[in-house]
Amino acid sequence: MCGIVGILGTHEVAPLLVESLKRLEYRGYDSAGIATINDGHLDRRRAVGKLVNLSDLLVHEPLAGKAGIGHTRWATHGVPSIRNAHPHSAGRVSVVHNGIIENFRELREWLAGRGLSHESDTDTETVAMLANHFLSEGASPEDAVELTLARLHGAYALLFLFEGEEDLMIAARKGSPLAIGHGDGEMFVGSDAIALAPMTSRITYLEESDRAVVTRSGARIMDSGGRLANRPVKTIHIDAAQVDKAGHRHFMAKEIAEQPSRLTSALSFYLSDDGAIRLPEPGIDFTGVDRLTMVACGTASYACHVAKYWFEQLAGLPVDIDVASEFRYREPPLAARTTALFVSQSGETADTLAALRYCRGKADRILCVVNVAESSIARESDLALPILAGPEIGVASTKAFSCQLLVLGVLALEAARQRGRLDGAAYAEQVESLRALPGLVNHALSISDEAARIATRLAEARDVLFLGRGRMFPLALEGALKLKEISYIHAEAYASGELKHGPIALVDKSVPVIVMAPHDELFDKTVSNMQEVMARGGRVLLITDRAGAAAASHGVWETLVMPDVADLWAPILYAVPAQLLAYHTAMAKGTDVDQPRNLAKSVTVE
Ligand code: F6R
Repeated sequence: MCGIVGILGTHEVAPLLVESLKRLEYRGYDSAGIATINDGHLDRRRAVGKLVNLSDLLVHEPLAGKAGIGHTRWATHGVPSIRNAHPHSAGRVSVVHNGIIENFRELREWLAGRGLSHESDTDTETVAMLANHFLSEGASPEDAVELTLARLHGAYALLFLFEGEEDLMIAARKGSPLAIGHGDGEMFVGSDAIALAPMTSRITYLEESDRAVVTRSGARIMDSGGRLANRPVKTIHIDAAQVDKAGHRHFMAKEIAEQPSRLTSALSFYLSDDGAIRLPEPGIDFTGVDRLTMVACGTASYACHVAKYWFEQLAGLPVDIDVASEFRYREPPLAARTTALFVSQSGETADTLAALRYCRGKADRILCVVNVAESSIARESDLALPILAGPEIGVASTKAFSCQLLVLGVLALEAARQRGRLDGAAYAEQVESLRALPGLVNHALSISDEAARIATRLAEARDVLFLGRGRMFPLALEGALKLKEISYIHAEAYASGELKHGPIALVDKSVPVIVMAPHDELFDKTVSNMQEVMARGGRVLLITDRAGAAAASHGVWETLVMPDVADLWAPILYAVPAQLLAYHTAMAKGTDVDQPRNLAKSVTVE
């Protein structure tokens, strides 16, 4: 949600800023801009829409300077327009910001009372104006930032650049991540290490409420109390291949195709050769857990819903689940011996992080399942379980979902073993079934052409329904979310048994109904619901296995046949057709697959 970058370089920085912003564009793409200092003077270029528009502008109106800041925006306050694009400047200060300043109206009035009026509708301009106000009262840049930060309520990653200061950037974080990159005689600041990867692998992560005074010779970091803080410099290896499309047309296609290898990496991290599950230190004692409270948003929350079936059925462990935006304000009491488990690809989702903080002191232990190991959620948990999916750039989550499911499945299996719910043979059988998954997912990818053919018909629909029962219900929810977010087709998911309680009124021949039903213990019940749809003229796309197709494909509109898989882990495999149908439907409609409208990855505002 907004990406920011800053460079104190030895060469012209505009091209480098744009290059870094490209790597942050997944965080927002409503507008983009950069500001530099040249001969002591601040200047900026801003453009509405994708970053390419800023690049074009810079061809015609280049920006010189060896120090600069940049921003790619996901609009919160004010429509996407040049006026509202960052950097925001006031007098001697230029600022880029990720987050929301909650008290900006009050600050605006305070500034207006001093005869200072805003140019934009944004909260960020207020920050630039405040800093400039303190500078004009004689404060140094560092003091001006300190005085400004003291007045801000809300969440921010901020980067300040000052007129006349060619060797100074000041960064501050509260609620939104910031990484400092160390070069040779150069320094960098970015929303994440990926943005800085082409320039440096030596990274310092700012902690909550830190601020940093950055010059070309290094960074001086102060904690929330203004004390000098010693934050470690880590070497982060981000392989260039992980952040390019590797010959695929879209990141999403690449990330779908990568799932077999990503699942293999996660399996080899969590399973030893003898089949024992290895968890990172200090591990988890599930015998002392009476209840699991799982909290997440969007796709990650659907992974929790699948895992609920696993924890409850396999391990006999009751699970409560809530979306983070509801959980955080409901003030739910947590029962004794509750472990809280947060699932997040980015590890920075504002609501999930706030929910985690709410649980601190209330839950016995805080666990997280994350993709970004250095994220805030990982750092604030007692134990972080990595999903090892590698950077996910496509806005629609794909490989992170299947890897989240895998790690949650491993955890549920471990919980079942520790709680004496599985004997040795049953445990070994489940481990073997997990090991088979990468091969099966690879096999499932071969339905891509068929999914593309069916997608040309789905693309004509205005509404689509997804149905699933038991473990497949959350997959139906995920299928509907994937389809709507990238193809903009209205899609809803229902538990198959709920259909008769209302949604069946929607069924007619213009509404495709996608039924996700492996031939498991609930198959016959789902097929009955499917028959009810067909009896009312509904067009059914049945996603099932060979046995399911043999038993029930008569009369359906289309069937997609998946490889056979152990019933328990079927949701991991059935994520593939859900993703491929959404991808190909979006392709058929010509929408922007990797950067769908209105969305951004990593939702760092609530
Ligand atoms: C949908 C999608 C989102 C995210 C959600 C949580 O494809 O990606 O629904 O799952 O915004 O994000 P994380 O997992 O980063 O907390």
